Amino acid sequence: MNILIIGSGGREYAIALKLKSEKNINLYFAPGNGATSRLGENLSIKDFHELANFAKKNSIELTIVGPEAPLSEGVVDIFKKEGLLIFGPSKAAARLEASKAYMKDFLARNDIKTAKYLNTDDKEKAFKFIDTLSAPMVVKADGLCAGKGVIIANSKEEAKEAVGDMLSGASFGDAGKFVVVEEFLDGFELSFFAICDGENFVSLPVAQDHKRLLDNDEGPNTGGMGAYAPSPLASKELVKRVEEEVVKPTLKGMKNEGSPFCGVLFVGLMIVKNEPYVLEFNVRFGDPECEVLMPLIDGNLSEILLNAAKGELKPISLKDEFAVGVVMSSKNYPYKSSPKAKISVLNDVKDAHIAYAGVSKEGDEIYADGGRVLVCVATAKSIKEARDKAYELCENVKFDGAHFRRDIAWQALK
Ligand code: AMP
Ligand code: GLY
Repeated sequence: MNILIIGSGGREYAIALKLKSEKNINLYFAPGNGATSRLGENLSIKDFHELANFAKKNSIELTIVGPEAPLSEGVVDIFKKEGLLIFGPSKAAARLEASKAYMKDFLARNDIKTAKYLNTDDKEKAFKFIDTLSAPMVVKADGLCAGKGVIIANSKEEAKEAVGDMLSGASFGDAGKFVVVEEFLDGFELSFFAICDGENFVSLPVAQDHKRLLDNDEGPNTGGMGAYAPSPLASKELVKRVEEEVVKPTLKGMKNEGSPFCGVLFVGLMIVKNEPYVLEFNVRFGDPECEVLMPLIDGNLSEILLNAAKGELKPISLKDEFAVGVVMSSKNYPYKSSPKAKISVLNDVKDAHIAYAGVSKEGDEIYADGGRVLVCVATAKSIKEARDKAYELCENVKFDGAHFRRDIAWQALK
């Protein structure tokens, strides 16, 4: 089967690695990274119409979209119009991630639990609402900001300043000209993933991401410094409740509103006193969550995603194992870019592998060439064992300026 993967990160590499373990799979990437070219062919086609043409000419049977940007720009609609099979939500359904205000109103319309909020582009209204909340509180830019559009304000003054800076366009340009102000939820976070075909879904192991740069959840926010799954913090009862109280009403609501959801529904949850609240929706796999989920899927990912794209999703089986992934980032991440650095892998580690992300290739060598460079992933029968193996691999991966957290999965092991 010829498969096209859109995206260039560790997430797309992880999907590709899983697909390559299946029979007769040829992969193309648009654009891919320095290491995906070892798994298939990297394409430099940027325009979605041209990419759809390429897919037709090269008998691509399935296209998988990794990141949110092409989804919210409508790549799925373009491919479908050409009669091509593609796994991911339409532009309309991708609004669940692309507009936080749309997402919050959708949750309210469908009685799905979320933080109390106000959507507005009116500074006075925002200020009045802020005066009804107690600190801390949260101010969010409506549009896509590459994970940066959320401000946790420690006082009403700070929240008002954030609102002012967003509405004026100063902090996030047009993405901030509409804002969501909401109450702060105090609990622990989980990443819940469901593969959806517009009507039905299958749940994947519940993961936990680690957003802060440094150990003990200190330092600035990042795209995610490591993940593990399944998390023991997600009991069977909690999973059932999220399926019943969040995923099912979301699929039903999206269908009723004329934009059925096909793709990965990634529910960012805050668990407060055992109650699941939706913090956000993403319409794609998380990164680095995807890197730990792929090795836990038993069976063919190509079939699963092909069936989902056709609207014919079938039950899937999962391995009775745990996976831990530790991100290795470059020296100056997340502040600024870092000098390119050659990556050496001293020794392989059993049941562990590397998912390459921000890398480029020169000759046969792979270079660190981005913020989050790679993820060391390991699987085992326990989280502790998987973590030990992932860290053993980290110790064997060398590049100048490499940084990684030492405490991935701490909430599971404390
Ligand atoms: P979001 O992109 O909406 O998930 O926000 C990014 C991060 O900000 C989340 O992963 C949380 O850590 C934090 N966050 C967002 N909304 C809230 C909230 N209402 N209460 C507490 N933390 C929040
Ligand atoms: N790891 C969080 C995300 O992909 O948004």
